Amino acid sequence: TRRDKDDLRCPVVCILGHVDTGKTKLLDKIRRTNVQDREAGGITQQIGATYIPADAIRDRTKRLQDTEPFDIKVPGLLVIDTPGHESFNNLRSRGSGLCDIGILVVDIMHGLEPQTIESLNLLKMRKTPFVVALNKVDRLYSWKEDPEAPIRDSFAQQNKDVKREFKERMDKANLTFAENGMNTALYYENPDVRSYLNVVPTSAHTGEGIPDMLQILCKLTQERMHEKLMYVDEVQCTVLEVKMVEGLGTTIDVILINGVLREGMTVVLTGLNGPVVTTIRALVTPQPMRELRVKSAYVHHKEIRAAQGIKIVAPNLETVIAGTQMYVQTPEDDLDELKDEVNTEMQDVLSRMDKSGEGVSVQASTLGSLEALLEFLKSPAVKIPVSHISIGPVNKRDVMSASVMHEHKLPEYATILAFDVPVTQEAQQMADELNVKIMTAEIIYHLFDQFTAYMQNIRE
Ligand code: GTP
Ligand code: MG
Ligand code: NA
Repeated sequence: TRRDKDDLRCPVVCILGHVDTGKTKLLDKIRRTNVQDREAGGITQQIGATYIPADAIRDRTKRLQDTEPFDIKVPGLLVIDTPGHESFNNLRSRGSGLCDIGILVVDIMHGLEPQTIESLNLLKMRKTPFVVALNKVDRLYSWKEDPEAPIRDSFAQQNKDVKREFKERMDKANLTFAENGMNTALYYENPDVRSYLNVVPTSAHTGEGIPDMLQILCKLTQERMHEKLMYVDEVQCTVLEVKMVEGLGTTIDVILINGVLREGMTVVLTGLNGPVVTTIRALVTPQPMRELRVKSAYVHHKEIRAAQGIKIVAPNLETVIAGTQMYVQTPEDDLDELKDEVNTEMQDVLSRMDKSGEGVSVQASTLGSLEALLEFLKSPAVKIPVSHISIGPVNKRDVMSASVMHEHKLPEYATILAFDVPVTQEAQQMADELNVKIMTAEIIYHLFDQFTAYMQNIRE
């Protein structure tokens, strides 16, 4: 493979942290979008990606450039947003597994919380460098805001009490990070970036500190990961989510880390029932600065170069397992060898998913949420077997399959847990006739609550 030291790909950045620390809002502020306002219950339940081009970074860091000029050598940043809710450990693991650098978001009013520690350990385990965003500084009592200001400019304008409160909370955060084996320091006071994590105070509401965060992400990646970011031709691509999209059918959202994808390419993926060989029918992306997980006016591409977050339209994607690699068949490749490679990966995934013959049915809009439901049902406190899983709307076929549990004399398992998917009218009708209970919810833990109450009732 040819490599050119001036040809860098976008670094992949993953935002992690406890629920409601402001991960999505920070991205909204950078994008000037309102993705968070439209999330059910205000929580993120899917993994997403946004491309922030170098021009946008230049624009958002203008004021900082005046006092601290710096070159942007990367073509942009590809940012992955993850859920902070405890159910979505699988998505945090997936996101942190494919990024070059992480942003660990901490709510300055709450300090370190359970999923902060979990995320910290994921990053540590994979030796992924990361930066801490100490977010919601605007909530410090009597904070005076200066929209989108570099953080030192903001601090210069605060009164003594704000400065004191900040220092107290910062000291406390330093202490809890130290208890978890990490040294931390304000990024502009950092004595040694190799032994201290950089902390950037931010506000997703006022935008303060965001220029600093963008600058530091560019600097750390282009200076300290240059080698890793040099573009490589060989395709390296991970499936983020498998998703039904009205009008497009089942699609996959992927992160292309290296190489080029083209329409018409033959690709091999890991499926629940064996390798999936298919042909790329369409490659679409949202506009730059827009979220891949939000349906939008997609841009179509004949070919697309890494790094990018891409939605792939192709036949036979229904069984593809998220979190696995996508392989491209090149003229030199033997299809059987590629399939073998994929098979090994699948055995690994299947061993994590239990499928017994007797149990409830589980359906969800994405594989990520399906995995979260399966994890919940497997947990020691719940321990409910699952006999049938599916992605997409609840159809008559799914009801039929659930109704079989009556024949097994297990009426409580004649239940479908449906997360974020519609139930067709015929399916509901059939469920009423065959005595199949369909539970639906738009927020995953509401489904957990409903189901727990139902099972308690039955067991009494
Ligand atoms: P999950 O994805 O569900 O884990 O949450 P999140 O980390 O993405 O947080 P989100 O962006 O959903 O924000 C949670 C709440 O905190 C929302 O009500 C936001 O308006 C609020 N919030 C986020 N950032 C800030 C901030 O900087 N200042 C203030 N005052 N509120 C914030
Ligand atoms: Mg979020
Ligand atoms: Na939230």
